[in-house]
Amino acid sequence: MNLSTQALGTTGPHVSALGLGCMGMSALYGDADRVESIATIHAALDAGVTLLDTGDFYAMGHNEMLIGEALRTAPAAARDAALTSVKFGALRDPDGGWSGYDGRPAAVKNFAAYSLQRLGVDHIDVYRIARLDPDVPIEETVGAIAELIEKGHVRHIGLSEVGAETIRRAAATAPVSDLQIEYSLISRGIEESILPTVRELGIGITAYGVLSRGLISGHFTQDRTLAANDFRGMSPRFQGENLRHNLGLVEQLRKIAEQKGVSVAQIAIAWVLAQGALHDAAIVPLVGARTRARLTEALGALDVTLDAADLAAIEAAVPADAAAGERYPAAQMAHLDSER
Ligand SMILES: NC(=O)c1ccc[n+]([C@@H]2O[C@H](COP(=O)([O-])OP(=O)(O)OC[C@H]3O[C@@H](n4cnc5c(N)ncnc54)[C@H](OP(=O)(O)O)[C@@H]3O)[C@@H](O)[C@H]2O)c1
Repeated sequence: MNLSTQALGTTGPHVSALGLGCMGMSALYGDADRVESIATIHAALDAGVTLLDTGDFYAMGHNEMLIGEALRTAPAAARDAALTSVKFGALRDPDGGWSGYDGRPAAVKNFAAYSLQRLGVDHIDVYRIARLDPDVPIEETVGAIAELIEKGHVRHIGLSEVGAETIRRAAATAPVSDLQIEYSLISRGIEESILPTVRELGIGITAYGVLSRGLISGHFTQDRTLAANDFRGMSPRFQGENLRHNLGLVEQLRKIAEQKGVSVAQIAIAWVLAQGALHDAAIVPLVGARTRARLTEALGALDVTLDAADLAAIEAAVPADAAAGERYPAAQMAHLDSER
């Protein structure tokens, strides 16, 4: 199947209009089903999704090994078309703890060497540090990726959750394909300065949290019990009164979805897709589907057309600053260069 494609910035690869974020298949949203996860990656490739996003720290290499297995067992044509987008830099411990970020050039090359092995590929298509390492100038981290490009181990440089000044410094060092950052109906912080900056510099956006981690998917409920290892259990937007308020916004969105005969998740994804055209920017949503059913629903968003009246109704239902609660707990907000 052919999905429409999108150039990821002026120097980046052409990727499918929707990418598949594989994080939840290994980490952060409670347990996932390995067989179904691999079937979902295969179904995505079969449907024409070419961009697979991961991080080496998602369950300490587990997510990369899962993708490696899916690629090994996929038809050759699908495997050849697949593009890997890999984040590195987060430091973990054997108990699953997090202990900062490492963007030193030697560390970048070390992380890449392991990722290539785990993925079973001879190059990574887009490579990026997950969070700015405050102790290492971005020029050094990006410069190390540029060296990996020269040697053929990486194709493109990406960025993640950094603000306008860091984006400019990185782009002045070497060509940057895309910035990966949270963007959704209820996380619109990029619109003020980040989006104009990437547009000016010819850098694309790979948007994550388009469904706000399931919160605005239409499937999340107030009484859902979360596993101890589920990030949402400590995410401010999923707590008590905040959750009640945020699910109220989803019910407003549901009315619009029902009128259009589509699902809430499809409206939320289609809204992000529509922002690309509105802001004249290359925006590719990464959807976190980890079952074939969720993937099918997400792909259906590509067939949803939102006209000016629809967009106005959506904005009225979910105004820009309507969400209750920050998008990360305070300790994690502190790591976000994009929020400074
Ligand atoms: N750069 C960064 O800092 C960063 C941070 C986070 C994530 N990411 C990347 O972005 C990707 C996407 O992020 P995300 O997983 O938070 O995004 P998301 O798509 O907003 O959330 C995924 C969650 O939404 C739920 N969902 C409900 N309906 C869905 C549907 N039709 N399609 C997809 N998901 C649906 C899933 O549900 P179930 O519970 O039913 O599975 C899953 O829990 C990640 O996989 C990761 O690769 C990057």
